Amino acid sequence: MSAMNAAMRALFAFLLLLAPTVASAATDGTPPRYLADRRLWVLDGGPVTYVVGVNERDELQHVYWGGRLWRDADLRAAHSMPADDSTEPSTTTTPEEFPGWGGARYFEPCMKVTREDGVRDLVLKYSSYEIAGSDLVIHMKDVAADIDVLLSYRMDPSGILRKQATIRNRTKQVVTVESAQAGAWLLPPGDGYCLSYLAGRWGGETLLVREEIHPGVKLLESRRGVATSNTMNPWFAIDGRERATEEHGRVWFGALAWSGSWRISVEQTPEQQVRVTGGFNTFDFSYPLKPGEALTTPAFFAGYTDGGFGEASRILHRFERTAILPRPGTARPRPVLYNSWEATGFDVNEAGQVALAEKAARLGVERFVIDDGWFGARDSSRAGLGDWTPNPKKFPNGLGPLIARVRQLGMDFGLWVEPEMVNPDSDLYRAHPDWVIGFPGRPRSESRSQLVLNLARDDVKEHVFSVLDVLVAKDDIRFLKWDANRHFSEPGWPERPVAEQRMLWVKYTTNYYEIIDRLRAKHPSLEIESCSSGGGRVDLGILSRTDQAWTSDNTDGFDRLSIQDGFSRAYTPRVMMAWVTDVPNMNERSTPLQYRFLAAMMGSLGIGANLNRWSEQDFAMASRMIAYYKSIRATVQEGDLYRLFSPREDGLTANQYVAADGKQSVVFVFQQAQQFNRPAPTVYLSGLDENALYRIQPIDDKLLERPPVASGGWLAQHGLRFRLRGDFDSSSVLLEKLP
Ligand code: DGJ
Repeated sequence: MSAMNAAMRALFAFLLLLAPTVASAATDGTPPRYLADRRLWVLDGGPVTYVVGVNERDELQHVYWGGRLWRDADLRAAHSMPADDSTEPSTTTTPEEFPGWGGARYFEPCMKVTREDGVRDLVLKYSSYEIAGSDLVIHMKDVAADIDVLLSYRMDPSGILRKQATIRNRTKQVVTVESAQAGAWLLPPGDGYCLSYLAGRWGGETLLVREEIHPGVKLLESRRGVATSNTMNPWFAIDGRERATEEHGRVWFGALAWSGSWRISVEQTPEQQVRVTGGFNTFDFSYPLKPGEALTTPAFFAGYTDGGFGEASRILHRFERTAILPRPGTARPRPVLYNSWEATGFDVNEAGQVALAEKAARLGVERFVIDDGWFGARDSSRAGLGDWTPNPKKFPNGLGPLIARVRQLGMDFGLWVEPEMVNPDSDLYRAHPDWVIGFPGRPRSESRSQLVLNLARDDVKEHVFSVLDVLVAKDDIRFLKWDANRHFSEPGWPERPVAEQRMLWVKYTTNYYEIIDRLRAKHPSLEIESCSSGGGRVDLGILSRTDQAWTSDNTDGFDRLSIQDGFSRAYTPRVMMAWVTDVPNMNERSTPLQYRFLAAMMGSLGIGANLNRWSEQDFAMASRMIAYYKSIRATVQEGDLYRLFSPREDGLTANQYVAADGKQSVVFVFQQAQQFNRPAPTVYLSGLDENALYRIQPIDDKLLERPPVASGGWLAQHGLRFRLRGDFDSSSVLLEKLP
């Protein structure tokens, strides 16, 4: 029974408001159900059922996570698991839902504490629960001390379940939290599972890695503070021993909402129990709670499908569009933007930007963005960061005249900022040398000649907020590209007592979120792009407060196919910024302009080329491509993605997008290298209505057979064949459903 007193109800209401790692409210799902006779909670959503229960020892136990169940009578009450080996206590074999580190437990705990009196034992037992709408909160408490945890669950109609925990210290002593995880996800016991995750590096983010899960722990993590990281992204997918494909097979998948140091551990215990635990990174973690204080973990979202990896990402994409991204349902299509970074570097000025803006407008660009170099003494990466006023030599009249011209050309104006950072050679640093992160008297690593402002300090937080507030208000700026080009090193916070200094890992990120939340509240039409040296800040925490994300500094069309393929596993193409730039690019490869356009059109299109160097032919091609993109972008940004050929396997990449209403579909194909006399591959289409007719409109003459109209059945069963010629050839076909 619900044992909710007034204080608990107040806390529950507070928790619902809080959820600090995710900003927007989720849509209502099916309300959770409590089966009192068996002490089970059942959460149903879309294709998924999740069941948790209390066993005879009052431990909270995982019961079921998988395909939707329809019969409550099938569910059995939770029972602790006796170990076969009598030396092993049953606390090691019982699949606990949220184990604290205490008692005889040897796996990754969800929580670990040290009390002021030295006790480090924490044994959490069930205490009470509350259901309000689609939210379930289960209250757990240590067996002896007043340390409690509120586990919050919310099932989305898509079948994505959110877990988040709030740890409260209600004792009279300080309790230092050393591990705070959102929760653990347990798979059906067994072996032979395979883990997919996203790893990489600067210029090569979100590359898909797959490996078999073996006994032991695999750690996915960021220890970098500031950002999610370019090297690993907090997403996982696990398929069973029968192995999933793009369109078939069981897949359990999830993503963590935290843009700082995070961890996801994937563990297979000796009992062949695969457990995925995620939350704050425990490395160097220490968060003291004074009596009465609380700590809320990041939110951890996860889902299940038997429709393979393709369906897993489509579920995530829909969930992100409806429950994570700001302005669900009212967001306008992502505008085609121009960004001057690759064209001009730091060499920006009013005349040069106006010239580029005029050319961009001719192409049909809708938003013009000046990147780095417009402020302070910013002629290179060595100076000026922190001084957010226009450089008087480059913009003698401020940004006003440029902005006015951009608007006159019918475009929206956007500005690059990197407000969390400072160059030692800046007025801000000279005025406030103590505002940066570091250990006094120790060498301090500079990266890109810059230091990190300690956003965890309230005075620094207020400064950054007011700088941005003034900047945005002054010229009514509607778009910020928010960059962060270095991560923590020497993470000291000398102004705080030693025991509190490591709160930096959490407070930095919560204050960063707070700045964005306040800014958006004050400037509701402001849109933000999340960026950190390319794709270093992409996760569900930041995506709940920003409109799009920079995917990678690597804009090479060919490399992008793999980076974007990995990105699309976790994140909707709507937020995936992709620019067309000049060649040769970072890796000295030259791909044709059409190839670069089609690669970029599979996400949110931008142009980053130096338009001053483009020929009339380039302009003509680009204008055509941008017009084509505008005709398909709703399908790309809001539709369902089917990955037909993988850039990792086939020398061919093919992706198909189907509009939410099914009326339009678009196919993109890319060939890596020509092979003499290789037959044209068949591309079988997905997601179409087999009984409907579609008008087939290719952008060029590369289809082997080109019936003007074909049935969905023919397109799916017979498929399309493309005669691609030469290295880096590409094509695209638009399909329109006939009424
Ligand atoms: C890193 C970003 O990823 C680039 O797009 C660009 O904005 C530079 N920073 C500017 O310094």
